[in-house]
Amino acid sequence: MPHKVKAVIARAKNADVELVDIIVPDPGPGEVVVDVLTCGVCHTDLHYKLGGIGDDYPYLLGHESTAVVSQIGENVTNVKVGDRVILNWRAVCGQCRACEKGQPQYCFNTANATQKMTLEDGTELSPALGIGSFAEKTLVAAGQCTKVDEDADAAAVGLLGCGIMAGIGAAMNTGEIKRGESVAVIGCGGVGAASIAGAQLAGATTIIAVDVNPAKLEKAKELGATHTVNSAEVDAVAAIQELTGGFGADVVIDAVGRPETYKQAFYARDLAGRVVLVGVPTPEMKLELPLLDVFGRGGSLKSSWYGDCLPSRDFPMLVSQYKLGRLDLDAFVTERIKLDQIEEAFHKMHEGTVLRSVVEIA
Ligand SMILES: NC(=O)c1ccc[n+]([C@@H]2O[C@H](COP(=O)([O-])OP(=O)(O)OC[C@H]3O[C@@H](n4cnc5c(N)ncnc54)[C@H](O)[C@@H]3O)[C@@H](O)[C@H]2O)c1
Ligand SMILES: [Zn+2]
Ligand SMILES: [Zn+2]
Repeated sequence: MPHKVKAVIARAKNADVELVDIIVPDPGPGEVVVDVLTCGVCHTDLHYKLGGIGDDYPYLLGHESTAVVSQIGENVTNVKVGDRVILNWRAVCGQCRACEKGQPQYCFNTANATQKMTLEDGTELSPALGIGSFAEKTLVAAGQCTKVDEDADAAAVGLLGCGIMAGIGAAMNTGEIKRGESVAVIGCGGVGAASIAGAQLAGATTIIAVDVNPAKLEKAKELGATHTVNSAEVDAVAAIQELTGGFGADVVIDAVGRPETYKQAFYARDLAGRVVLVGVPTPEMKLELPLLDVFGRGGSLKSSWYGDCLPSRDFPMLVSQYKLGRLDLDAFVTERIKLDQIEEAFHKMHEGTVLRSVVEIA
């Protein structure tokens, strides 16, 4: 029997989000219906609402969730009814050229549910990142469910489903930060702050937080930054060099994703260092750099998609780090809200006053 549940949609470009009833079908083969417990409000949801991602309205927003499996379809073996899961947007196929090379974190054919969720009048919904979990229930592919321990705060660990994983993974997976290295992170919102926490977890000993907002720099210190630089007041490149013996950092992570922050990252790293771009640029942005500097400074310039994570490997490991007290996911939960407060949460995100607002649904 299909379920009628409450959910938050973006009906048209730029319109305020709406709390409506949606219809969630029973799961088909390889699909799972979950009861959503919590869902973080991510910058990507705002991008959907503003039309920055596509034009497939209405979007069913939300994608950073902890949930409980409530129904499984045929051929589902990785989870059972009652399992606590974190939803992911990287259900790997095992068969594409990346998976076959043993690099499933780059899978080019990730799975989503094939059936559609709809409005009551039958209009098909486009779930954000193939999840759509600002909802009491949602329908996903089985591989989008990663089973995790039940004895951890759902609101905190659910954030591993997107932005916090992207930040931690940019540091640990893409940046391959090693013990004793120096790291600078430009932009300390949810993603950058998570990169700072990831750098600390990886054993970096100099961790420099760079932002234009003093409140974000204070928060970054709580999460492990050893130094802070307000780049609205001082030159970020010179400041990072000064804090690293005049050389620059081994790894610089750009968690803003603008040409000017990327250039800062490029020049603030040591010779043969690594730059990681995890902030997402917009289509009109262009980068100009002397090619001789690209060659002469050596090292590597990498982008980080979803922190190069493999949910089945990384989510349970990071939940364990949280439970061991080595990863402070609670610090990312600025406020707990209800489904009808998402529009306000977007405003707070825009004002820069939150790392994450988390909707508590069940
Ligand atoms: N690569 C991925 O898979 C992935 C996943 C999730 C989010 N993201 C992207 O990561 C980026 C950051 O997301 P977020 O949720 O942390 O956003 P956010 O808005 O919470 O944080 C952005 C931070 O950057 C700071 N900032 C802005 N301009 C700056 C500048 N010129 N110099 C220094 N700091 C500056 C802001 O003060 C703020 O603290 C976004 O582009 C988002 O789309 C990427
Ligand atoms: Zn694949
Ligand atoms: Zn997200």
